[in-house]
Amino acid sequence: MTRLFTPVHVGRYTLSNRLAMAPMTRSRAQFDGTPGALAAEYYAQRASMGLIVTEGTQPSDDGQGYLTTPGIYTDAHVAGWRATTDAVHAKGGHVFIQLMHAGRMSHPANTPHHRQGVAPSAVAPGTQMFTPTGLQDIPAPRALTTEEVRRTVLDFRHAARRAIEAGADGVEIHGANAYLVQQFLAPSANTRTDEYGGSIENRARFAIEVAAAIAEEIGADRTAIRLSPGTTMWGIDEGGEGPALYRYLVAELDKLKLAYLHVAHQGNELLLADIRKLWKGTLILNRPGRARGEIGADVAAGLADLESYGQMVLANPDFVTRLKTNAPMNEANRTAFFGGNERGYTDYPALSEAQEA
Ligand SMILES: Cc1cc2nc3c(=O)[nH]c(=O)nc-3n(C[C@H](O)[C@H](O)[C@H](O)COP(=O)(O)O)c2cc1C
Repeated sequence: MTRLFTPVHVGRYTLSNRLAMAPMTRSRAQFDGTPGALAAEYYAQRASMGLIVTEGTQPSDDGQGYLTTPGIYTDAHVAGWRATTDAVHAKGGHVFIQLMHAGRMSHPANTPHHRQGVAPSAVAPGTQMFTPTGLQDIPAPRALTTEEVRRTVLDFRHAARRAIEAGADGVEIHGANAYLVQQFLAPSANTRTDEYGGSIENRARFAIEVAAAIAEEIGADRTAIRLSPGTTMWGIDEGGEGPALYRYLVAELDKLKLAYLHVAHQGNELLLADIRKLWKGTLILNRPGRARGEIGADVAAGLADLESYGQMVLANPDFVTRLKTNAPMNEANRTAFFGGNERGYTDYPALSEAQEA
């Protein structure tokens, strides 16, 4: 486990350790997408992580799918995020803002504009989502025109610029977990007949164009991407060609020399080993539900350069100290994951506070 606590280069930065906070939506932003008042405190509490990846943040109006998620495209968003980046930097941490376009994982009741969601194709995900009036079926989205797909690439690019203006160290493109980028990858969500649908090359095109556009805008060494090869969440089915698609996509992304690739692992170990070979740069690995005793194993084995953790970091602001000292961890309160106030957000005690209590 000791290798976890050694510095590592990520893009243009040197991080103090090889532990990353996985991106986690907390739905506590203001209605206009400006981060909530407690966001800076929440992230600063966790600044001893080598890298913080923020909650998914929409690059445009249409990118929002859930209630009260933050954005990064208006002046108010930039000013709001500035509080977080300043607070994290003051404690020596590093922060990448995750750019998340929800695509078809969106309900009109959740957004200020109440528009129909947009996606590669007009195919509903076949699932439900929380709205102000409770769980509701997600309606079919509207298919983006080819011109609109190109404009969406520019929305990502603009948001990346704004993230840098807000003081972020970089951005992570959310290409995982069944949201817009992955909707382009999966034939179950993408039935397009233009250059963004059909063949592996065409389905991968959107992800590559977004990454290339952002790298051009803010530098490849501040641009990263997260992928979840093979996920079956929310109507995503990448089919038998899935592994081949990822081998192609990762090899193409590798040419861009991005800051890192973040894999949200879904269980295909052979594909993961291939990705490790195809990707010459920094790899962050997230294994959902990883047991505490396994923390550090992937870095020790050389399968990953950093490991990311979600729920354990959510519940333990001093996760790094607790690991180093083999101290017990707070349990995450799932009922406070999304929305609400400081409860289950900024009130998880650090070790010293817990011992004093
Ligand atoms: C409350 C919550 C919100 C999440 N939101 C996001 C998100 O916005 N973007 C993302 O890529 N993953 C998101 N995830 C997935 C996590 O990044 C991570 O992959 C997952 O929790 C598994 O890791 P863990 O077992 O260490 O928590 C979320 C997970 C949780 C628990």
